[in-house]
Amino acid sequence: MRVGVPREIKPDEYRVGLTPTAVREYVTHGHQVVVETGAGQGAGYADELYARAGASILPDAAAVFEAAELIVKVKEPQAVEWARLTDKHILFTYLHLAPDPAQADGLLASGCAAIAYETVTDDAGGLPLLAPMSEVAGRIAVFSAGETLLKHNGGMGLLLCGVPGVPPARICVLGGGVVGMNAARMAAGLGAEVVVLERSIPRMRELDNMFLGRILTRYSTLDAVEEEVLRADVVIGAVLTAGAAAPKLVRREHLAKMKPGSVLVDVSIDQGGCFETSRPTTHKDPTYTVDGVVHYCVANMPGAAPRTSSDALVHATLGFGLQIADRGLDALKRNKHLARGLNTLKGDVTHPAVAEALGKPFVDPYQAWVGR
Ligand SMILES: NC(=O)c1ccc[n+]([C@@H]2O[C@H](COP(=O)([O-])OP(=O)(O)OC[C@H]3O[C@@H](n4cnc5c(N)ncnc54)[C@H](O)[C@@H]3O)[C@@H](O)[C@H]2O)c1
Repeated sequence: MRVGVPREIKPDEYRVGLTPTAVREYVTHGHQVVVETGAGQGAGYADELYARAGASILPDAAAVFEAAELIVKVKEPQAVEWARLTDKHILFTYLHLAPDPAQADGLLASGCAAIAYETVTDDAGGLPLLAPMSEVAGRIAVFSAGETLLKHNGGMGLLLCGVPGVPPARICVLGGGVVGMNAARMAAGLGAEVVVLERSIPRMRELDNMFLGRILTRYSTLDAVEEEVLRADVVIGAVLTAGAAAPKLVRREHLAKMKPGSVLVDVSIDQGGCFETSRPTTHKDPTYTVDGVVHYCVANMPGAAPRTSSDALVHATLGFGLQIADRGLDALKRNKHLARGLNTLKGDVTHPAVAEALGKPFVDPYQAWVGR
């Protein structure tokens, strides 16, 4: 199959859909890979590295969409990209279609088969193509909290790790899933005092076994959240209720009772945020202060580390991408987890939750189209 990698055009996006290492894997499977010039530049991968891995470098996105059948990207296609998609294309990327009817209409009009990273599943009931970005975000959250705690960044002037004789910061992590566990790991590794609040008892058992007493776990009731938030120097919001907006666990009235110069990092901001006073910020202007509490609410935290994030994303997508390249849409018949990634096909919405969110009819991909 001909596989195409366009340069990402969403503002502040420096990740790339395939790294040179991944290109070599596709080429070894007998596929041709075309890469837009500069596609990997932001992640530190120059055109020469792609050429050495066996890709052809094309001068612009139009040439890549024209040449390729499988398009591998990172972010959802922008309007200019929908216009380049046709029914010959399979698109493999993050889509997040439910809140984005304009993009959905663009993809439906193109007739392409759009496979969304975020709805591909695994045997453990997880979302394997979302997890690597949650790992990156959870770890970055602790770096960002440590920076924000410093005086010149608006924080209370506390060194997160402390020094001998002076205690470290107390970090309260709300939600002990992928983001929360990675934040806890970083924070504990730096020597901070860490408490993780969770609703899932099996998950707390896992965390307890993982950290062997190095962190505290606490069941997340209203009382527990209030107590821990008021006691903390840093609160990291990492809760998720699948398919719903994040619950507002920290309310405006809590802020005045928190320590002045303490820091809230809202990783859940992409689901609306779990602090009442959160609003999305960018890496260029990441923080703002409400009632003396500094808020860090960057909506694309992994974007700060495009090299690590591209590598981690590609490791997660490679196996699925090769199945698509090797077998086309027949790969979906053989792999139910990949099939769950299919969001649109030949003008129909083929994912039940996406169809419901968009108010469009759901068409079962097996009965309707796959293999026709
Ligand atoms: N801002 C970013 O750049 C960025 C990057 C990656 C992920 N995220 C977001 O981070 C959030 C967390 O992602 P994840 O992969 O860790 O999800 P996850 O499903 O692995 O973990 C969420 C955890 O929250 C727990 N939870 C739910 N309600 C709770 C409550 N009231 N109190 C305490 N815990 C509660 C769940 O039991 C679960 O363990 C998501 O909203 C995700 O979209 C943001």
